[in-house]
Amino acid sequence: MSNMKIAVILGTRPEIIKLAPVIKILESRKADFFVLHTGQHYTRQLDRALFEQLELPLPKYNLEIGSGTHAVVTGRMLIGIEEVLLREKPEIVLVEGDTNSILAGALAAVKIGIEVGHVEAGLRSYDRNMPEEINRILTDHISTYLFAPTSKARDILLGEGIDDANIYVTGNTIVDAVYRNVELARKKVDILKTRDLKTKDYFLVTLHRQENVDNRNRFASILEGLDKVSSTFGLPVFYPVHPRSAKMMTEFQLDHGQVILAEPVDFLSFLQLENNARLILTDSGGVQEEACIMQVPCVTLRDNTERPETVEVGANIVAGSTPGKILESARIMLDRLNNWKNPFGDGHAAERIIEILVEGLR
Ligand code: UD1
Ligand code: UDP
Repeated sequence: MSNMKIAVILGTRPEIIKLAPVIKILESRKADFFVLHTGQHYTRQLDRALFEQLELPLPKYNLEIGSGTHAVVTGRMLIGIEEVLLREKPEIVLVEGDTNSILAGALAAVKIGIEVGHVEAGLRSYDRNMPEEINRILTDHISTYLFAPTSKARDILLGEGIDDANIYVTGNTIVDAVYRNVELARKKVDILKTRDLKTKDYFLVTLHRQENVDNRNRFASILEGLDKVSSTFGLPVFYPVHPRSAKMMTEFQLDHGQVILAEPVDFLSFLQLENNARLILTDSGGVQEEACIMQVPCVTLRDNTERPETVEVGANIVAGSTPGKILESARIMLDRLNNWKNPFGDGHAAERIIEILVEGLR
């Protein structure tokens, strides 16, 4: 790998977590690479704490773009990323997922003739109101290397006219991250004790998606559903709140009933919370996958999912946002036998991705 240079561009919590296995391999192979952080996420728990806990090298560049409207952050990112790419001249830019950071990274690169590798290509919710759907589609269609996590994702890409020669089914690097860290979590953290939660005796929640928390009625309705789940099953509901949701909850003056609110927790503690939960209720993409990988039933607090594999294997149900449907979905999933097979790969996705890049760029 000595004479090819790779730029890894990331900007948010899930990208740091899912690209960590890739960065680790690049490091261990002494590859010529650098990490560019857009600064989309900057709160310590969503950013710096992850680099420390996952023992990742600090980014060579941090553009410190911060928060703003979609156009403002994407525009600022494009300008900053282009400057760095022109200076560093990498052969390839690697991005992961579906955030504004990855769209900016891919677009800045492709316009100056640098090839793009998209990790987690081919996911579709078929809901174009989601900013993530726009980011995924555009990034897929300007990438040269499409690392699809499953054969379903590959089929979606083929259906959109993308050349088969550019698609590689690798598995999802989140499996690598979970396998690597779940044991470490057991040894290093003890969040159940700190939070007074008992194994398989609580529900875990995350909720942060724009379409859920920026809409007062919808956010209130989901919180009401979660409160009902807690009272009906007589178990605590623990919700580490994403900063976006915290801001909106205050702005809308929402009542969270008996739902227990907390700050976002570190990744190892969150894995431990997931692993020991009776049930997970979430609108997060990564959390749907992790629940499925760790054999914990999941209720998705959305109207659709770009992770249908989780539903097909019986690990997940799409509940929507009304209290009645959330309660009914929780009941269904609590009765499920959690013996499904993980559809996201064997935990070697990152190695595969690097091998493919080495072959392709040779
Ligand atoms: C972004 C991604 C979303 C992903 C999520 C992961 C886009 C369009 N959305 O959503 O796909 O699931 O990251 O967590 O890229 N904020 C802070 N501190 C931070 C980051 C955000 O306080 O470190 C607050 C700010 O008030 C900000 C709001 O959260 O305005 C939203 O942040 P933003 O980065 O726009 O989107 P996310 O909701 O984090
Ligand atoms: N996560 C975390 N602490 C928390 C909540 C989530 O470390 O308090 C991790 C979780 O394990 C998963 C990732 O954050 O790997 C998911 O990120 P998020 O839900 O923000 O984004 P999405 O996956 O929806 O894009």
